[in-house]
Amino acid sequence: MDGGRWDDLDAATALALLEWQAEMGADEPVLDAPLDRFAVSDRPPAPPPAAAPSKSAAPPEPEPGLWVAEAIRLAEAAQSLDDLATAQERFDGIELKKGAGRFVFADGNPAARVLILGEAPGDEEDRQGRPFVGRAGQLLDRMFAAIGMARDHVDAARALYITNVLPWRPPGNRDPSDAEMAMMMPFVRRHVDLVAPDLIVLMGNTPCQAALGRRGILRLRGTWTEAFGRPALPMTHPAYLLRNPVAKKDAWADLLGLQARLETLAV
Ligand code: URA
Repeated sequence: MDGGRWDDLDAATALALLEWQAEMGADEPVLDAPLDRFAVSDRPPAPPPAAAPSKSAAPPEPEPGLWVAEAIRLAEAAQSLDDLATAQERFDGIELKKGAGRFVFADGNPAARVLILGEAPGDEEDRQGRPFVGRAGQLLDRMFAAIGMARDHVDAARALYITNVLPWRPPGNRDPSDAEMAMMMPFVRRHVDLVAPDLIVLMGNTPCQAALGRRGILRLRGTWTEAFGRPALPMTHPAYLLRNPVAKKDAWADLLGLQARLETLAV
């Protein structure tokens, strides 16, 4: 972290960040493997090769249905995020739209360098029409605050942009089906292209399945890969961290890895 960035940090915020780091398991000033930050900023490491998906685990092919073709047509025609939101909200191919409350498109700063891709709205998101505003979302905010980042930060270098694979809550918060993901992927792809982030965080299994064609977040987490043609970091979902606090230590290591990667890409 750049000490100068913390000039405007008040004591209460500093204490909250410290408590959060302790909660994350950051009870040591260094990780298992030391990180040479001078080497990091001088010589950006070559991105690790994207894990080659096995043939059987290839990303779900868009179904040759008319609705997928329609989703591709609508998404590709969108020239702005507003266009895309309007087109996706009007899209009628997906049944769960009928049972959901609000359309949940995105939140945060569209100029952000980091885009977080989650799964789907839960109950609170469905009520408010914003992603990650329930308990898991509050934890997500605290996690990123600990590395000086926030969804509403005006400085793009410290801002986040947040969206989901699905913009409508699945009934009973069940996992999205392959067909639902296939219909939404043209919109997600276009969404990522329009935001053009430097880095993507794949938050949990569903975005890994959608973007990489792979599940198994506990194996995937922490290893850089590529999604939508950009560096991507799978991380455990904050809802999982709420249920398994012991995993927060790994999530903290992943956040530090994200921060280091941002520094290597600093303009
Ligand atoms: N979980 C997600 O993956 N996305 C949300 O918006 C809320 C919870």
